[in-house]
Amino acid sequence: MLIVYLSLTGNVKKFVDKLNMTSVELNYTNPLIEVRDDFIVIVPSYDEEITNTISMFIDYKNNETFLKGFVGSGSLNYDNQFCFNAKDLAIRYSKPLLHTFEFSGTNNDVLKLKEEVNRIAISCT
Ligand SMILES: Cc1cc2nc3c(=O)[nH]c(=O)nc-3n(C[C@H](O)[C@H](O)[C@H](O)COP(=O)(O)O)c2cc1C
Repeated sequence: MLIVYLSLTGNVKKFVDKLNMTSVELNYTNPLIEVRDDFIVIVPSYDEEITNTISMFIDYKNNETFLKGFVGSGSLNYDNQFCFNAKDLAIRYSKPLLHTFEFSGTNNDVLKLKEEVNRIAISCT
């Protein structure tokens, strides 16, 4: 399973580093990267531009075929806007919201996500 992520201030990047999995980092200037492996997307929460940038990536070539789900990083201070980008993307692409966490996540968040990834990998075989 490939991890595709976007990180503006480094929290998501820190979380991804803890996963120790193959990853691809997207940014605003170059979201058009082709992937050919099953992937999940981890996004921070800021504004519509996040949703649009990730959508450009997913809509590129056959990327959507390999999409398995979304994960959000945010802050609970944003209350009902907590991780709204990951939630919006899950609805837009009819894929599961696998996990949400605050900032760069805890060890427990890392474990939970790894469990989700294993569950998906088993259901794909
Ligand atoms: C200007 C700004 C707006 C934010 N808006 C939201 C928000 O709407 N919902 C949320 O859950 N977190 C929000 N956050 C928190 C970030 O999504 C969170 O810190 C995240 O871990 C950042 O990831 P990154 O460091 O990889 O960019 C906001 C943070 C900033 C600085």
